[in-house]
Amino acid sequence: MLILAFSDYLSQAQRLATRLELPLAEVEVHHFPDGESFTALPPDLPKHVLFCRSLNQPNSKLIELLLCAKTARELGTKRLTLIAPYLCYMRQDFANRPGVAVSQRHIGRLLAELFDDVITVDPHLHRIGRLQQAIPLDHAISLNATAVIAEFLEQKFDHALLLGPDSESRQWVATLAEMTGFTFQVAEKVRLGDTEVTLTLPEADYRKQPVVIVDDMASTGRTLAKAAELLHAKGAEEVHAVVTHALFCGDAERVIREAGVQTLWSTDSIDHSASCIKLDGVLADAVKAMLNEH
Ligand code: R5P
Repeated sequence: MLILAFSDYLSQAQRLATRLELPLAEVEVHHFPDGESFTALPPDLPKHVLFCRSLNQPNSKLIELLLCAKTARELGTKRLTLIAPYLCYMRQDFANRPGVAVSQRHIGRLLAELFDDVITVDPHLHRIGRLQQAIPLDHAISLNATAVIAEFLEQKFDHALLLGPDSESRQWVATLAEMTGFTFQVAEKVRLGDTEVTLTLPEADYRKQPVVIVDDMASTGRTLAKAAELLHAKGAEEVHAVVTHALFCGDAERVIREAGVQTLWSTDSIDHSASCIKLDGVLADAVKAMLNEH
C-alpha cells in the first residue's frame, strides 16, 4: 500500500502515513497558464493506493483526481481509496427549479466511478441520511469530528454554552453537548445570498459563561460573524467558534474576528492557522477498520 498526497494536504497525509506505518509519495501537479492541470504519479504503484486530499476549492482538484485515478488504474493499481476529509459539492442536494444540477448526486457518482472507497469527515448532508445515497459505494465512509472536538473543548473549558447557528448544525452541536455535558442552543438562520445571512438567537442568558459557536464549516464566515454579533448584543463577554472545516473564503477570517470571535478553532481537514484539532487518529482508525473487513 502507498499513500499519495497532494501538496495542499501534505502535512496531514504525513501524519496519517506515520500512524498507519505506510510509505508516502507526493503527486506531482503543475498548473499551466491556461488553467489546465498536469499530474504525474510514481510509475511503480502497489496494488492499493490511498489518495489524500481535501476538496475545498474543488474544481481543478476534481479534474486532477480524475487524471490520477485513471493513471493509477493504467499503471495496474487494483484498489483506489480516496481520503477527502472535506468533501465538496454536497450542499446542492435537490433541484429547486427545473434544470438545476443536483451536484451532490453527480459528483458523488463521479467519485464512485473513480474510487473503490471514499472516506470523509462531517460531510454536509441535509436531506439524505447516509453518504452512500450520494456516493454509491459500500465503502462511502462518513466519519465524525465530534469526539476530537469534544475532547478539545473539554481541555479548554470547565463549562461553556454551545451555539449551533442554524437548524442543520443541530446534529453536531447536540452531539457535542452530550459528549461534553455542556449546554446548547440552536439559532435560526435565513440565507439571503452568498455573503448575507440573518439569524435569530433563542432566548437564553448568554452573559455568564463562555459561548462557543459550533458549525460544520465556515465558508464566507458570515454565519459565524452574525452569530457573534448577536451574542455580543445579548451581553456575551466571551465568544469563540469551532468548525470542522475552515474553508475561510476571501475575507472570512477577518470578518469573523471583527465580529468579536475571540478564538477560532478547526480541524486540520484544511490547513490553516486555526486548524489545531488533528484528524489523523480518526482517519487512521477508519482505514484500519475498513482493511480489517476483508
Ligand atoms: C450551512 O448550512 C453550513 O452549515 C454553514 O453554516 C455555512 O456553509 C457557512 O457558510 P458561511 O461561512 O458562508 O456563512
